[in-house]
Amino acid sequence: MNETTIAIVKSTAALLKEKGEEITTAMYKHLFANYPEAEALFENASADQHKKLAQMVYAYAANIDNLGALTGGIEKVAKIHVGAKILPKHYPMVGESLLTAIKEVLGDAATPEVIDAWADAYGFLSKVFIAKEKELYTA
Ligand code: HEM
Repeated sequence: MNETTIAIVKSTAALLKEKGEEITTAMYKHLFANYPEAEALFENASADQHKKLAQMVYAYAANIDNLGALTGGIEKVAKIHVGAKILPKHYPMVGESLLTAIKEVLGDAATPEVIDAWADAYGFLSKVFIAKEKELYTA
């Protein structure tokens, strides 16, 4: 991630905190409509799953210049993902759905620069999760 991505994502943190649940609710709607095979993965998910995802997206935006603060949270979620059999191929599905949801909920505030920055930041976080999960799958 470059400096521009970091600055733009951080500048959206307050908005994401405010609209986080709306964004993640819209994200699941798009995910399950476009990738029905993803729905089965959430069979045992808790009812407040969208709140947890929203909190993590916000925490990521707020700490994007200090990712060490997220290490503990990432390890915990990676273990849960491995238990739910999440694979690398699922990350682009969530990424596309998340970007569509951000555009939908933020409207005019989701400028092309904001969308590009979030695409870059999501790609980075996906790689961190995929690497951690690979370690856990092969352990
Ligand atoms: C960077 C992207 C992602 C983030 C930030 C993220 C975040 C989270 C968080 C915060 C939780 C809740 C953990 C807890 O209960 O404490 C979770 C659980 C889960 N995530 Fe993800 N996730 C991501 C990608 C994915 C992908 C790609 C999939 C599959 C399509 C997925 C499926 C699940 C499932 C099935 C659970 C378990 C729900 C449950 O059993 O309650 N996640 N994730």
